[in-house]
Amino acid sequence: MNILIIGAGGREHALAWKLAQSPQLDSLFIAPGNAGTATVGTNVAIGVEDFEGIKQLVLDEGIDLVVVGPEAPLVAGITDFFKADPLLHGVPVIGPSKAGAELEGSKNIAKVFMREYDIPTGQFCTFIDYTVAEGKAYLAELKPPYVLKADGLAGGKGVLIIDNLEEAQQELENMLKGKFGEASKKVVVEEHLAGIELSVFVLTDGEGYVMLPEAKDYKRIGEGDTGLNTGGMGAISPVPFADKAFLKKVEERIVKPTIEGLKDREIDYKGFIFIGLMNKGGDPYVIEYNVRLGDPETEVVLPRVKTDMVELLKATAEERLSEMEVELDERTVSTVMLVSGGYPGTYEKWKDISGLDQVEGSVVFHAGTKPEDGKVLTSGGRVIAVSSYGDNMKEALAASYKNAEKIQFEGKYYRSDIGFDL
Ligand code: AMP
Ligand code: GLY
Repeated sequence: MNILIIGAGGREHALAWKLAQSPQLDSLFIAPGNAGTATVGTNVAIGVEDFEGIKQLVLDEGIDLVVVGPEAPLVAGITDFFKADPLLHGVPVIGPSKAGAELEGSKNIAKVFMREYDIPTGQFCTFIDYTVAEGKAYLAELKPPYVLKADGLAGGKGVLIIDNLEEAQQELENMLKGKFGEASKKVVVEEHLAGIELSVFVLTDGEGYVMLPEAKDYKRIGEGDTGLNTGGMGAISPVPFADKAFLKKVEERIVKPTIEGLKDREIDYKGFIFIGLMNKGGDPYVIEYNVRLGDPETEVVLPRVKTDMVELLKATAEERLSEMEVELDERTVSTVMLVSGGYPGTYEKWKDISGLDQVEGSVVFHAGTKPEDGKVLTSGGRVIAVSSYGDNMKEALAASYKNAEKIQFEGKYYRSDIGFDL
């Protein structure tokens, strides 16, 4: 089988690493990929939203299946583009249609979906510019802290959690006036859920589904979960408090009604669902849906999947997922993200990375790197994810940290407290 992965981050390198282990794989292409994906497949310099460029590549290389990593091409309709094209419609895309991608592309659509299918989530109400007065009154009825969410994609920055009522009311107005551009022309005001977060990953073919390992990620830049939000600074799987009974609740109360809801609405959805959850007193509540795998969660989730991933993706395309079992590695996997100094603010790129050949006992996934003249250069804020297995979290993290020390580039920073709250 010839497979094309769309994307350029640690998630895509982890996908490429996993798919490359399958005896069913013939050729693997990654568009655009990074220095890590280049070691397991062929990178092609085509942007993730360049649908015409992707089409040409699929036809030239005889691609049999496409896996979409990030949300942007899904929200832009890459799956529908394939379906509508007479030359491409036989090539399955792992990733939902545009209608399915709206579960991530619009917080309001996701919340309305959850309400319609009785999926546990916080109370909410959505406002637009001419209902700002109603929005402020709604805030006044809620208890602090106040949660304000830009409806559209805002690069992970569109959620504000504010303690003070007047400030929250002012921010609601600012958001509706365009604080996050088009994304905040609509704002979801949501009940605050107190608890501990985790994420659950599901692969569905629209009828059946399989549960993949759960994970917990660390989004803030600073130790002890302080400072600015990032794409993710590290992750752990399994999550110790997510025992069998809790995960059963997630499956029964959230996963099944989500898939039933998609079917009921006749939404074409073959792909991953990433459910952000709050564990509130032992009960799961949905914070958000993402229509893809997480990054850096994938760097701990896929190393725990023993089943052949090409087989799972083929079964997804052929609607045979309900026949599949996923075998898991019972060990713990941790990942620690090495980032550029200054990230998530401004940072410098194109720094030489050394020490990658010294790594022992971890798997290195490239997040933001570029190969050049035999060297590996930094090309993003998140640079390298160091993933490790262990019999427990402590062992896994010790291996990740030992190797994190060996990899060098100017300005390197990482959090040394991943897993501190578990
Ligand atoms: P989101 O972009 O929806 O994942 O929100 C970003 C982060 O804000 C989440 O990972 C949570 O930490 C927090 N958050 C979002 N919604 C809520 C909520 N209703 N209650 C508590 N925290 C929330
Ligand atoms: N790590 C969070 C995300 O991928 O959205």
